[in-house]
Amino acid sequence: MINLTIFASGGGSNAEAIIQHFNNHPTIQVNLIISNKTTAGVLDRADRHQIKKRVIDRTDFNDPKKMLGYLKETETGLIVLAGFLWLIPAYLVEAFPNKIINIHPALLPKYGGKGMYGQHIHRAVFENKERESGITIHYVNPKYDEGNIILQARCPLQPDDSPEVIGRKVLALEHRFYPVTVEMVAIQSE
Ligand code: GAR
Repeated sequence: MINLTIFASGGGSNAEAIIQHFNNHPTIQVNLIISNKTTAGVLDRADRHQIKKRVIDRTDFNDPKKMLGYLKETETGLIVLAGFLWLIPAYLVEAFPNKIINIHPALLPKYGGKGMYGQHIHRAVFENKERESGITIHYVNPKYDEGNIILQARCPLQPDDSPEVIGRKVLALEHRFYPVTVEMVAIQSE
């Protein structure tokens, strides 16, 4: 089995799409969800699907022995970031080379970097009157949103699309493409 650990800070709709996708999968399973927020909705999803969960704080996250211990304990093969807002430290990237992937709700390199997440992105896209937006799935390196790109998908925008509408269009692309891309990367990473 290839074990996936999902890191998420929020509601976890992407985590949900991934969990559903791998439900009854013959060779890939989600077996740990890690969050940096005690109130994150993703933790309820872990409970509902009976997936092991862990809440971490900054001290845990900066402690290689502890974090790598958690990941070793569950024999994590691939780390999947799904709305996880902390920068991944170098020790983790080194321990999981090309085995950490992220989804970003914009067409990188545009709208990337620190502070560019969730609704902030869709508002900036709206203010700049972009005619399209989309998603970027990429490997993680120690800089925000700069790792090699695995896949991008686009959606056209209408002039009257509000930031909320843009967000909904982009999220639909995330749910459609992230689970299958995770599957592809997991199989290749074996
Ligand atoms: C998603 O849109 C994801 O792309 C974004 O956070 C949202 C989480 O939604 N991630 C970032 O902005 C990372 N820079 P979810 O909790 O419903 O999956």
